[in-house]
Amino acid sequence: MSIPKPVYNPPFNVTRASHSLLTVKDLAVSRNFYVDLLGFIVSDEDKDTLYLRGVAEACHHSLVLKRARGEPQAERVGMRVFTEEDLEKAKAFFEKAGLPAKWVEVPYQGRTLHVCDPSGAPIEFCATMDLKPRLVVAFEHHRGAVPQRLDHFQLLVPDVQKACEFWMSMGFRLSEYISPDGTEDLLFVFLQRKGNPHDIVFAPGAGPRLHHAAFGIPESYHFFYVCDLASNMGFAANIEYGPGRHGPGHALFVYMRDPDGHRIELFNTHYQVMDIENEPMRWDASQSMKRRWQLPARQQWFAEASRFAGVELREPARKGDPLSLEKFVAAGMR
Ligand SMILES: [Fe+2]
Repeated sequence: MSIPKPVYNPPFNVTRASHSLLTVKDLAVSRNFYVDLLGFIVSDEDKDTLYLRGVAEACHHSLVLKRARGEPQAERVGMRVFTEEDLEKAKAFFEKAGLPAKWVEVPYQGRTLHVCDPSGAPIEFCATMDLKPRLVVAFEHHRGAVPQRLDHFQLLVPDVQKACEFWMSMGFRLSEYISPDGTEDLLFVFLQRKGNPHDIVFAPGAGPRLHHAAFGIPESYHFFYVCDLASNMGFAANIEYGPGRHGPGHALFVYMRDPDGHRIELFNTHYQVMDIENEPMRWDASQSMKRRWQLPARQQWFAEASRFAGVELREPARKGDPLSLEKFVAAGMR
């Protein structure tokens, strides 16, 4: 295995992770969690759909919740490209790779391109969205964790190396990666377009599945305030992991499961990485664990994720053996 070479003049310009679409069973319950507890701003809503954004976002939505029967699923993750011309180039790129690509109409978005990556993950690209007021200094609208903006997605995929090669061929750059000690195998890859550590992360597992969508929050005390508020509002059991500190990316974090089981990460303090001479930062798997001052995540954090609607799940060639909280306790907490 080897680290793919960066593509400095990409076939089309992706600018950032933009939005995701999740299905939920009860929009009123979701509204209570996302708006009343976490503090998302409602851009629009109807009986079937809730469009949400963070307080620092001027584009219409970064999270779309759709009411649906059956098992809650992720429908799609969205990326922004810079111009309409980039959309045309994206369509040509996917078709040349033998992957499906079609134009669709999506509310509040400009022309939108639906594609699937080689793992089968449904992705959409758009170049524009309707605008809404940016509420970053409208403090009267700030509640809960005060989510600022969508930052990144993490997907579980059966072949991390293949995902890394494909997304880097689109111009994504590797900021950090985790390899098993003494190997160059890619266990976790952190890929970015917007100039901070990641827009999309690939981790090993049965997939493709959406592990989490991550939103930046302004201050470290918001982690504790939103956890206190979650306790008072009956959502204490929805706090899955943290607050804690990541090794890769160095962000503070807390992971929560929404009422339908979708995982949301709240985090802060990412750094800047965009210069041409920047090399990806390598972490030995054991080193990334030693950096940790919080307890390990529960097994469910490693194993559970949102299925993509209508997409076949494939198992990785090799099963991982992550150090879960359950193993850590069984081993005498060392
Ligand atoms: Fe994350």
